Amino acid sequence: MRTELKKSSAEVIRQAGELIRKGEVVAFPTETVYGLGANALDEDAVKKIFEAKGRPSDNPLIVHVSDKKHLARIVETVPHKAELLIERFWPGPLTLILRKGDRVPMMTTGGRNNVGVRMPNHAVALSLIAEAGYPIAAPSANSFGRPSPTLAKHVFEDLDGKIPLIIDGGACQVGLESTIIDMTSETPMILRPGGITVEEIEDVIGTVDLHPTVTDPEQKTDIAQAPGMKYRHYSPKAKVILVHEGDLAEITGSCTGSVGIISLSEIDVACKETIVVPDVTTLAQDIFRLFRHMDAIGIDTIIVNRIPEEGLGLSILNRVRKAASDIN
Ligand code: TXA
Ligand code: MG
Repeated sequence: MRTELKKSSAEVIRQAGELIRKGEVVAFPTETVYGLGANALDEDAVKKIFEAKGRPSDNPLIVHVSDKKHLARIVETVPHKAELLIERFWPGPLTLILRKGDRVPMMTTGGRNNVGVRMPNHAVALSLIAEAGYPIAAPSANSFGRPSPTLAKHVFEDLDGKIPLIIDGGACQVGLESTIIDMTSETPMILRPGGITVEEIEDVIGTVDLHPTVTDPEQKTDIAQAPGMKYRHYSPKAKVILVHEGDLAEITGSCTGSVGIISLSEIDVACKETIVVPDVTTLAQDIFRLFRHMDAIGIDTIIVNRIPEEGLGLSILNRVRKAASDIN
């Protein structure tokens, strides 16, 4: 299959909407990362997403809507706390897990009775969903296990020949995927920290639980509860080492081969590539792109220097820890 990479325009969005209605798969930009979308209500279309990504079919997809009113087509009920979160954070990088409605096929939810839903804060994504006339199921548009794509060219690197169209909408503003919160349990539980921080959520609905894998990806987990944790994620080809405490010079000194460092503070360690990022917001935007960059220039060990364990830092740490872990 020939893959077209086209700059976003009204015409391209029309073409993409038509492809979605015909049961095809299209990659499109959101504020978090690029998504690989298909009609969420069409089982055969959704199957194509899993095939293009090489993703195991028990790993459920997030359903994207362009209007809060469309939630009723997808979920059974919206609990009060979920309504509060929607009011405050949609459109935006927050996915709510809710009881699924009958029209959503099991293919979309990986066999679960719950469905993840979000309304992205990106003009291209919103017009595409509206144009298609269906909710769009979309995982990140990387091939399975690779860092999520924050530029259209990342999608092309991974999926050239596998999908008909990639809409180029420039760089993603947030750079990390949405925060996922399970609203079906007594106390809501964060399954994946992302673009909306835990602190922001607790300001609106009070205390939430954190799934143990949020801070420790090596935790053994029940697939039914946090399925995203079963498989290795976000990984560059290089080995990733997270430095929390301790002497950076000592650690880099003991690495063999080409070493690259990503740091939030100035450091004076000599290595092949040193990237100093000014603040956590910028690091969130850039982390996946930097992983791909390090691979492209032949780095074989990426050292990520200390990141604060709060706010967006917690979300970045979650991705880095997964990339650094050996779980497969
Ligand atoms: O920002 C994002 O969320 C991006 C953009 C494209 O919207 N999407 C994204 O999708 O990151 P994906 O599939 O790469 O990650 C979604 C995670 C997966 O780990 C999946 O297992 C989990 O969400 N998930 C989806 N539906 C779920 C459900 N019903 N119950 C539990 N976890 C669910
Ligand atoms: Mg993903």
